[in-house]
Amino acid sequence: MAPKSSIINVRKSFPILQTTMNGKPLVYLDNASSAQKPQIVINAMSAVMEQGYSNVHRGLYTISQDLTRNFEAVRNKIAHFISANENEIIFTRNATEAINLIAQSWGRAHLQEGDEIILSAMEHHANIVPWQILRDQIGIIIKVIPLNGQGGLDLDAYEKLLTNKTKLIGCVHISNAIGAVNNINKIIELARQFNPKIKVLIDGSQSIVHTPVNVKTMDADFFIFTGHKLYGPTGIGVLYGKYDILESMPPYQGGGDMIERVQWDKTTYKNPPFRFEAGTPAILEVIGLGAAVDFLVDIGMNNIVQYEADLSIYAHSLIKEIQGITLYGDPQNKIGILSFTMDCAHSSDIAMVLDQMGIAVRSGHHCCMPLMESFGVDGTVRASIGLYNNKDDIDRLIEALQKVRDLFA
Ligand code: ALA
Repeated sequence: MAPKSSIINVRKSFPILQTTMNGKPLVYLDNASSAQKPQIVINAMSAVMEQGYSNVHRGLYTISQDLTRNFEAVRNKIAHFISANENEIIFTRNATEAINLIAQSWGRAHLQEGDEIILSAMEHHANIVPWQILRDQIGIIIKVIPLNGQGGLDLDAYEKLLTNKTKLIGCVHISNAIGAVNNINKIIELARQFNPKIKVLIDGSQSIVHTPVNVKTMDADFFIFTGHKLYGPTGIGVLYGKYDILESMPPYQGGGDMIERVQWDKTTYKNPPFRFEAGTPAILEVIGLGAAVDFLVDIGMNNIVQYEADLSIYAHSLIKEIQGITLYGDPQNKIGILSFTMDCAHSSDIAMVLDQMGIAVRSGHHCCMPLMESFGVDGTVRASIGLYNNKDDIDRLIEALQKVRDLFA
């Protein structure tokens, strides 16, 4: 299926793509780290600052009331985007804060010493460290779903990890480090079959960018993502939680806007989602995220899936022909990411050569040290595709990697 013309023309919407880096037209292939911002996002945030900025939820004057309406409209927009209810959407600072909130609020309220949680070998540090902190605080046990040898998760081993002490499964939907698409439907189904009370947290930081997400059909208890990878601003993340679970959770932070009544001897709290949004929120960033979602909805997530899949196939077909390349992750089951090492040079040297040629990639552990360790490497080079990348970008990358070979081999 041919992509929609709006995808073909999409580069024009990103001012930074018209710039150069080290004297070469910029090829931006570090989208898994953070994506570039379309003009619509830049304009939406500037317009608020120029024409209607104030705090939200507090002012009785017109610009505050208007901005509060626009702010809450974004909550509604995000809810539609992932098929949730509006009161199940909590704004956080980023995906990391969303997971810390779950660990400290849900975890401390519902887990006790000896309870088990299961995480996957592919987790980002953001879905490991908060649980280790909780482990040190209350004595939970963390078990890990291993890799299956083909770059995916070993679901037979996962089944064997489930016990009557299992309380939560935490799994990344699409790996930021290698692009593997995990079979979260199966992971959730197996958890439900074993014990419907087990909660499932899905880290959707990459999947929200590359696939349509429906949290209801997925049946996740928690689904989290960040705004800056979704072509929106930094400083804004989203935590979706099933409402009855959110209702069972105490506040994560205390402060203004999350209370009903404060007295010296007792304070009562608002219902979710506001219970979890203490203090002045990231107003401009919420507005920017709303514009980013409008932008994606306009293009159509299904068109993005098709376009990026075709570009990934093209990229894989070329990169695997380069001598001395090792690719990580099953090419049949991944999205948008080339994660690789070369036998002739260290990944940081490769990234630095690419930088000189105007190509931005990430090298290193990608905040997934345990995953790198299971591959027996200290890091990889990662070229991650966004909706504005095209075959020219891939050709420039391949040409640059040939040059790396010529230089180091
Ligand atoms: N999690 C981000 C990455 O994958 C920062 O690079």
